[in-house]
Amino acid sequence: MYEAAENRYDTMEYKRSGRSGIMLPRVSLGLWQNFGLEKTLEEQKAILFKAFDMGITHFDLANNYGAPARGKAEENFGAILASDLGKYRDELFISTKAGFDFWPGPYGNWGSRKYLMASLDSSLKRMGLDCVDVFYHHRPDPETPLEETMGALSDIVRQGKALYVGISNYQAEEAGKAIAILKANKTPCLLHQPRYNMFERWVEDGLLELLDREGVGCICYSPLAQGALTGRYLEGIPEGSRASREGTTVGSRYLSEENMTKVRALNQLAQERGQSLAQMALAWVLRRPEVTSVLIGASSPAQLEDNVTALKHLDFTQEELQSIDRILKG
Ligand SMILES: NC(=O)c1ccc[n+]([C@@H]2O[C@H](COP(=O)([O-])OP(=O)(O)OC[C@H]3O[C@@H](n4cnc5c(N)ncnc54)[C@H](OP(=O)(O)O)[C@@H]3O)[C@@H](O)[C@H]2O)c1
Repeated sequence: MYEAAENRYDTMEYKRSGRSGIMLPRVSLGLWQNFGLEKTLEEQKAILFKAFDMGITHFDLANNYGAPARGKAEENFGAILASDLGKYRDELFISTKAGFDFWPGPYGNWGSRKYLMASLDSSLKRMGLDCVDVFYHHRPDPETPLEETMGALSDIVRQGKALYVGISNYQAEEAGKAIAILKANKTPCLLHQPRYNMFERWVEDGLLELLDREGVGCICYSPLAQGALTGRYLEGIPEGSRASREGTTVGSRYLSEENMTKVRALNQLAQERGQSLAQMALAWVLRRPEVTSVLIGASSPAQLEDNVTALKHLDFTQEELQSIDRILKG
């Protein structure tokens, strides 16, 4: 039976999520990949226990994680809560989401009240929980009225099935509207979860400023561009890596020759700073004061350790930031 490290809170840094009572670790762990069928339960436990031992208290899930066996990540996480981590439930901050295609027919996708309510119930069952800490709408729905989607989130809080709510993948304008509705409903938005990494900087065009103004936290996913902004692919595509697995998007999205030229130059700069490329990529996302936490994935405890070490060197000089911009512009 797992016993958490006694010194687990000694080194991790925590930051307040917007204007709320919640502090999140600067590095959080997502279970999108590696927690379905890719790894044994023992391998998954090794990653989760290492994370918690290093003070990572926040674990992010969604109804569909674990694809192609959608729901499997929540199921596995539930099993690990039941066997080991559950006794630390009050120290854990667990999120889940709904918004992508999950079950057949018209009620298993997007943002209707019908879908969100039923999906959260099924997530709670898979994880063996009475309530999650955060429930997110996973992506904006262009057709369902925002009042209905946000109303469902607010009612979920009132039902006691989530303590807080959040939104993910909303652009600045629609995020502003969603945040206003949640505020009027007296269930303020705790977090926005956008994609943000050196290759994808759309959040800098208004979203971060909005979140800061509204007092909403920001947790950035895929800060390592799914592994592209690490040393993982410098020598090609290694066996067992995400890009080597069928049905993944890292190759088509990030591993063009043009990007790899940038990755090599960034790697050189990271070495000059005395850190790994992964550490520099995380520090770069965390340089923005609006960012509460980086939401990483990891396929081994060693990767987690490498990534958390980023917190030892977060500062950039103006010259370094300019060099990064120059490299990224190509
Ligand atoms: N809201 C949304 O729509 C949305 C979408 C995507 C993700 N997310 C959330 O964000 C989380 C993280 O996403 P992500 O997995 O794309 O994040 P990421 O941190 O950009 O990529 C993680 C992958 O990078 C590689 N890696 C990590 N650390 C490394 C290191 N130190 N050295 C070398 N390689 C390293 C590993 O790939 P290998 O497996 O190849 O080792 C790992 O699986 C997800 O689990 C999920 O919770 C949310």
